[in-house]
Amino acid sequence: MNVEIKGFGLAQADKCVTNQDLMKIVETSDEWIKERTGIEQRYFSTTENTSDLGVRASLLAIEDSGIDSKLIDLIIVATITPDAMMPSTASLIQAKLGLNNQKCLAFDVNAACSGFLIALQNAQAMIQSGFAHNALVVGAETLSKILNFEDRTTCILFGDGAGAVLLSQSARNKTIGHYSRSEGDLEGVLTTDSLMLNPDFKSNLSQSNYLHMKGQAVFRFAVKAMEDAITEICRNEKISLDEIDWIVPHQANKRIIQHVATKLNIDINKFYINLNDYGNTSSASIPIALADMKNKELLRKNQRIIMVGFGAGLTWASTYFVV
Ligand code: ACO
Repeated sequence: MNVEIKGFGLAQADKCVTNQDLMKIVETSDEWIKERTGIEQRYFSTTENTSDLGVRASLLAIEDSGIDSKLIDLIIVATITPDAMMPSTASLIQAKLGLNNQKCLAFDVNAACSGFLIALQNAQAMIQSGFAHNALVVGAETLSKILNFEDRTTCILFGDGAGAVLLSQSARNKTIGHYSRSEGDLEGVLTTDSLMLNPDFKSNLSQSNYLHMKGQAVFRFAVKAMEDAITEICRNEKISLDEIDWIVPHQANKRIIQHVATKLNIDINKFYINLNDYGNTSSASIPIALADMKNKELLRKNQRIIMVGFGAGLTWASTYFVV
């Protein structure tokens, strides 16, 4: 049984924050941020939590697919900034979409910035096993909740937002394939603070949960991981890079993408880049980019697309699909 992506949607958070705005909070400059990352602005959410952004993106993906929402029987949300430790953000989205009274399973995955592609891979397997028929796959983040606005090396990089796709059974020939890997990170290259044990069983509410990053180590990992994920998906799918119309990368940093393009000898214009507008929205970045492309009428029937992501874990992944 084949599956295909039938609908796309994205949700911007409410507050647009430019590099100039961040200069009022930390010692930085528009030039430094643009030159080192390509980022010009990002959106932070002041009113909506992760599930709310996820709901807005989902509604647009459902509408775009033309599928009756009552037929959705699987919701997987990729996020590292859930509304709460429990219930899952997917469960909240299920309830907010009014999909409680039917045969539907909802759960979250955490594979950081690769999360959306890993969620998509899981959804495909669950449809192909016969468990589900129509899956909502969402990447949603409110990273501003875990940013330390006294740390200029990280707070300038990230943004909030959500993207969603509707994955369904398809009568078409094979249109989608995946590659994914991980390598446990005990060096603490990309982490948040640990949740500490509480041996005294006392109130423990003061823990912070800031994001920490060893920027240059992440940069080196990212280039290697993207190179591997693009090369391996082409090998698995028996397709050459020349036959690919678009590469939709995780939107972390323009310089990372430029390095990968040079190393693999790919025309940089094949990479869809919108990180200048959104910053790094972790697991939301790839589905936001897809919906952005759809809205700009850049996605055309039968185009061949590679999506590629990397993130904390460490994890990396790629998906090949035909529009
Ligand atoms: N504004 C101005 N100066 C800054 C800033 C800032 N925001 N941040 C750092 N600097 C300074 C540093 O203090 C340093 O100053 P010094 O030379 O006086 O010590 C100087 O700029 C250079 O710092 P580096 O860390 O060497 O800068 P680098 O060129 O490595 O760029 C960056 C930093 C942009 C973070 C880069 O390492 C990078 O892109 N890494 C990958 C990050 C990434 O993509 N993370 C997301 C991963 S995905 C996920 O799962 C979350």
